[in-house]
Amino acid sequence: MRHVISPLDFSVEEIGQLLALADEIIANPAAYAHKCAGKKLATLFFEPSTRTRLSFEAAMLELGGQVLGFSSASSSSATKGESVADTVRIVQNYADIIAMRHPKEGAAAVARQFARVPVINAGDGGHLHPTQTLTDLLTIHRLKGRLSHLTVGLCGDLKFGRTVHSLIRAMLRYEGVRFVLVSPRELQVPAYIRTEMEAAGADFVQVESLEEHIAEMDVLYMTRVQQERFANVEDYLRLKDVYILDAAKMALAKPDMIVLHPLPRVNEIAHEVDDDPRAVYFRQALFGKYVRMALILTLLEEAEARPGLARAELPAASDTLVCRNPHCITTAENGIRQRFVQTAPGRWRCAWCEHDV
Ligand code: CP
Repeated sequence: MRHVISPLDFSVEEIGQLLALADEIIANPAAYAHKCAGKKLATLFFEPSTRTRLSFEAAMLELGGQVLGFSSASSSSATKGESVADTVRIVQNYADIIAMRHPKEGAAAVARQFARVPVINAGDGGHLHPTQTLTDLLTIHRLKGRLSHLTVGLCGDLKFGRTVHSLIRAMLRYEGVRFVLVSPRELQVPAYIRTEMEAAGADFVQVESLEEHIAEMDVLYMTRVQQERFANVEDYLRLKDVYILDAAKMALAKPDMIVLHPLPRVNEIAHEVDDDPRAVYFRQALFGKYVRMALILTLLEEAEARPGLARAELPAASDTLVCRNPHCITTAENGIRQRFVQTAPGRWRCAWCEHDV
């Protein structure tokens, strides 16, 4: 049995199997209509969502299972001070599998340590969003026919965009992928992602102009500037409309480039682009339901075949180091020990949110 906290919780081969299963479900949904009969999915959403929560719930219902949960922290006992750890310890008595979204980075990793049922990270702050990545990979694979030998442009808020971090992590493992990272300097990818790219020997450039680079791309992944992660509103207002993909920019792109967006969109894609056949973000959201069906089915089958959790080995707790990331789950809840992974001599990374200390 396993949890899904990061896209790296699956090998490349396992991702291939999940995408193939999603393809099979798309081709023959009736064959899967009762596969999860008698099983329950709990959706614990401490942060707003349209696509992720509803596609998880639709996925479980279309597998013949049932769903329960909450859609905001305000309707849960988090408002009374209940911790993530206690919440999952309770909910695992009511459900066979948990999908959890939380505004704090590392919250899903904390949940994993306390759950006896599989926990799926449905987004933890600005950190990771692995099921969006599965959605993105399924979309790219179905529409481009491959996950290797692609130039992938990622544009917008690459600092706080958890979908960006997850997609880079996943695609680093495919051969011949070149990344064009388009963002203002203040919204470049965080250090831990850049370090991973360098360590993997990735082919990447960090640029500020979308117009100058769009012609190189096979895939353009647009992102929203994440208002909810900014410390002050002035910075958000200054940066929010830096990139707007419109018909004029699309005219510079390859005829077979595809445009993805995890959504929701604000201003970063003009509505005139929606009618361009290269704009695939609404189909992408549909693929998200099918890949989540494949994921739920796979995790529940694994749990039945191999009961007992592979609980992650945690590094030793530290009484001297403190994670300074203001978005880390350790800043929000008492009782979570500070733990760090050594990444190089004298360099440490928070075991929960993965920010360098
Ligand atoms: N892509 C995505 O995570 O959308 P929601 O926030 O609506 O779930």
